[in-house]
Amino acid sequence: MLTSKEIRESFKEFFKSKEHLIVPSAPMVVKDDPTLMFTNAGMNQFKDIILGNRPAKSKRVADSQKCLRVSGKHNDLEEVGHDTYHHTMFEMLGNWSFGDYFKEEAISWAWEYLVDVLKLNPEILYATVFEGSAEDGLERDNEAAGYWEKYLPKDHIINGNKKDNFWEMGDTGPCGPCSEIHIDLRSAEERAQISGRDLVNHDHPQVIEIWNLVFMQFNRKADGSLEGLPAKVIDTGMGFERLCMALQGKRSNYDTDIFQPIIKKISELSGKNYGDDAQVDVAMRVIADHIRTISFSITDGQLPSNAKAGYVIRRILRRAVRYAYTFLGQKQAFMYKLIPTLIENMGDAYPELAQQQELVTKVMKEEEEAFLRTLETGIHMLDKIIATAKADGKEEISGVEAFTLYDTFGFPIDLTQLILRENSLTVNMAQFDEEMLKQKTRARNAAAVENSDWVNIAEGESKFVGYDLTECNTQILRYRQTKQKNQTLYQIVLAETPFYAESGGQVGDTGVLVCGDERIEVIDTKKENNLPIHITKKLPANPEATFSAEVNIAKRNACAANHSCTHLIDQALREVLGTHVEQKGSLVTPEGIRFDFSHFQKLTNEEIIKVEKAVNARIRANIPLTEYREIPIGEARELGAIALFGEKYGDKVRVIKFDNSVEFCGGTHVAATGQI
Ligand code: SER
Repeated sequence: MLTSKEIRESFKEFFKSKEHLIVPSAPMVVKDDPTLMFTNAGMNQFKDIILGNRPAKSKRVADSQKCLRVSGKHNDLEEVGHDTYHHTMFEMLGNWSFGDYFKEEAISWAWEYLVDVLKLNPEILYATVFEGSAEDGLERDNEAAGYWEKYLPKDHIINGNKKDNFWEMGDTGPCGPCSEIHIDLRSAEERAQISGRDLVNHDHPQVIEIWNLVFMQFNRKADGSLEGLPAKVIDTGMGFERLCMALQGKRSNYDTDIFQPIIKKISELSGKNYGDDAQVDVAMRVIADHIRTISFSITDGQLPSNAKAGYVIRRILRRAVRYAYTFLGQKQAFMYKLIPTLIENMGDAYPELAQQQELVTKVMKEEEEAFLRTLETGIHMLDKIIATAKADGKEEISGVEAFTLYDTFGFPIDLTQLILRENSLTVNMAQFDEEMLKQKTRARNAAAVENSDWVNIAEGESKFVGYDLTECNTQILRYRQTKQKNQTLYQIVLAETPFYAESGGQVGDTGVLVCGDERIEVIDTKKENNLPIHITKKLPANPEATFSAEVNIAKRNACAANHSCTHLIDQALREVLGTHVEQKGSLVTPEGIRFDFSHFQKLTNEEIIKVEKAVNARIRANIPLTEYREIPIGEARELGAIALFGEKYGDKVRVIKFDNSVEFCGGTHVAATGQI
């Protein structure tokens, strides 16, 4: 039997033999893309190539990517644990062609890999093809169907609708028909009774999709219409855990060698057996799944917190704690004890886990303990509600009260129901659902963004010149309008730009675009899919004119001073506290800085003073900046440059050095520390 590790390797070997460049997984936590919090598909790290913002290093690429699907378009969280084949974190095996091969090779190689290399039985495989859409004026994907017919009998080729067989990156952008490969893992007797064909796409736990081959050939415009894509793209994604289940002859992903060691450890710690009780089994699956997500997020630099990506991680951790609390009787922190098993299991493929074991353990234990205290507070409040209801002779508590408990105190509804049941009470779920819906609508309205199509003025790539200049003459390449919460803004891409786009913790530059008497204020600069975007409230009268792009120098200088200062702080912390200190994030603005780092206790006053003194001494020493631009990553490491866990670096990097402070960094800095 192939182990999961061997399976992962064999995929890479196969595509290497088809002349693909094998690249590492991008971090699971996305840092510089406002449209995405987590990597949710292998193609995310190639979005800018697909959109034409960056040339591809190789036209053929393959990898295994850590993915997380819990929010946004692909939301699997509530299903996880209840079934045997959905996960929050999963690995996606993928191969890509950027304007190179298309449907024929994608299909024949998928077949060759599954059937010739992995020896899967072709009789249990099915392929779906796009049936066409009158609304989009598209016919059935007869081309793909034709290639499948070389390998599969016609009754194993199934038409699928737009929902299942047309893949879109978002509301607008590259998209196209897709073909999914499904596998029927039921026994021969079961297969004889009901044909697998009738179970494809019907949520059957043993008849499941394993591989999605996307053929991107269109671009979806803001008005909903489609136009042809100049360079066609192949984007495939295969569920690694599902493939392992198929190859290891299991009926559940959780029975593979990916999850079993963790489940065994949960059994050992809780004294309960997997397989004895349905609810206990769900709880164990939830925990086995979530422990991976939480650990990998922390190592990728995302700690649990109260906002955005951090809040998603906190919710996942709380979901696991609540299952452990309710069904495994764990009233004390417990998940952190699983970390050594996870490392034993996945540490080889992902060395960042072992490197940060102490941090992950500490953070997880503290989060668990904090949430267990919240649960206790909630239980006290619920006790009062129960007493009042009983005194009033009621059999039901209001859904509004239950929602307050849930929303304000993070007290889960199923726990409320469980405790109420023990007291012969129920909760008005219609009211609860209504409150939930209201909240979701509020959140959706606040987040909805409407983008118009890009208006192209000139061809070319946008070039950042801001390390050397704060002002330059330039032209608009393209612009578009965006609407959010009734506010209309414009996003402008310039041919050359001195404006620093928000990244690496440093906020974006502000300034003006000047043309004659006209001054258009740039209120922020951000990166989207690697493209620097200048945000303005109005458009210039003549977008085709030449502009002087002028950065607000006072703010830029203040940012540069603060950014250089974070490097000095980082270095001082490592000297005073030890080299285990890792930067975990930072915020650099003209007004000040925040520096997040990992350390295992609160700093003492003496330590804070030592850090301050070390930083101030370096400022007074007026150390000149040494900047290395575009140096090979290997050379940067030889210089001893500190990289951030979970940060994506290219082959060429920039290194900022002030004496013995040496860091990978794309930010703007002072010429010498005395300027701080
Ligand atoms: N982008 C496609 C998916 O997520 C294939 O990788 O399914």
